[in-house]
Amino acid sequence: MGFETVGFSVACTEEGGHMLMRGEGCRTLPLAGHVGFDSLPDQLVNKSVSQGFCFNIMCVGETGLGKSTLMDTLFNTKFEGEPATHTQPGVQLRSNTYDLQESHVGLKLTIVSTVGFGDQINKEDSYKPIVEFLDAQFEAYLQEELKIRRVLHTYHDSRIHVCLYFIAPTGHSLKSLDLMTMKKLDSKVNIIPIIAKSDAISKSELTKFKIKITSELVSNGVQIYQFPTDDESVAEINGTMNAHLPFAVVGSTEELKIGNKMMRARQYPWGTVQVENEAHCDFVKLREMLLRVNMEDLREQTHSRHYELYRRCKLEEMGFKDTDPDSKPFSLQETYEAKRNEFLGELQKKEEEMRQMFVQRVKEKEAELKEAEKELHEKFDRLKKLHQDEKKKLEDKKKSLDDEVNAFKQRKSAAELLQSQGSQAGGSQTLKRDKEKKK
Ligand code: GTP
Ligand code: MG
Repeated sequence: MGFETVGFSVACTEEGGHMLMRGEGCRTLPLAGHVGFDSLPDQLVNKSVSQGFCFNIMCVGETGLGKSTLMDTLFNTKFEGEPATHTQPGVQLRSNTYDLQESHVGLKLTIVSTVGFGDQINKEDSYKPIVEFLDAQFEAYLQEELKIRRVLHTYHDSRIHVCLYFIAPTGHSLKSLDLMTMKKLDSKVNIIPIIAKSDAISKSELTKFKIKITSELVSNGVQIYQFPTDDESVAEINGTMNAHLPFAVVGSTEELKIGNKMMRARQYPWGTVQVENEAHCDFVKLREMLLRVNMEDLREQTHSRHYELYRRCKLEEMGFKDTDPDSKPFSLQETYEAKRNEFLGELQKKEEEMRQMFVQRVKEKEAELKEAEKELHEKFDRLKKLHQDEKKKLEDKKKSLDDEVNAFKQRKSAAELLQSQGSQAGGSQTLKRDKEKKK
């Protein structure tokens, strides 16, 4: 142990009498004995193990393609969950988080499953809720990152590390729904396409089906996740496995006794499909690649590629840039000031516009009111005149009626007088006649 030999394990070069680290310009010193910083990797491992890990899987695929069964098979457990109904008006995302423990390593596993995917008559918008879900997880992480007091080490990272895309075992070609969805998701998540329920396809058909799927993905420019080949320790196995994509898997919750071992398998009248038998399906390949070899790379790619892209677009949308228009390095302070001034300017402009609009509206309202007042006055005058005319007419009528009444009264009294005189004269003549008769 220790650096008895000269220099670090990094390549060094001798320049001007000093040992210099290539490109860094700093000196490398030989150590006389053991110091102890070679335990740094162990410290990191211990810290990571005590913190635990998190891994988030999204299963996208039509209803009943065996998503839940495959998850149970992969993690050798039974996750709770009801089968989805086929009557969903749209696609929904169902997310469940579980704490798993293997040896002394803890894993917070989140499984997100699509509910009702492909069940609608119009499937055009099926990908949208998935994209929105992926973006929402990136946004939550970005918000945490932008906080002044951020606690990223205890933050539950819900960003999706891998999307297992379940392809129906049709043996023909990819459905347009599959192509469109994968195309929309490929810049946001690591996609591993898998042929679900592959026990439904014969061996020769499966080879052709895999070739067809791969060529369709390539011709449509769909970027699926490639197992990394830059790390020598896994380059060979990853290279081989890349050629096996998409994996043809079989899932089962049933355990059968095969030989003297209990194994996950599916039993049919004509035989048994052993899930973990590589001659029967690619389940073991998927489990190895996903969990044992590339889990950390999937987490890393999610952060450095997909999240980085989301973050960059989001920050650019908010007006942040790496260089200013004069190609000078970006200054957060200056950008903030510029944005603030721009915002204040816009605010002032808006305020002025609002004020102008308000004044204009007041003027309009005033004019409207004045007009209405004028109309009212005119109406009042008209009515007043009408009223006066009516009144005058009535007075004239009353006067003529009064005159008529008076004339009538005069005539009446004259007639009464005449009548009374007439009756008096009539009475005296009758008396005279009676007297003459008596004589
Ligand atoms: P939803 O959650 O309802 O969308 O369904 P799912 O995709 O989770 O499917 P699930 O795992 O519930 O499986 C549906 C049916 O398919 C069950 O009867 C499973 O036993 C069966 N199944 C699952 N995996 C396979 C497989 O690899 N091959 C065959 N033949 N059947 C399978
Ligand atoms: Mg399910």
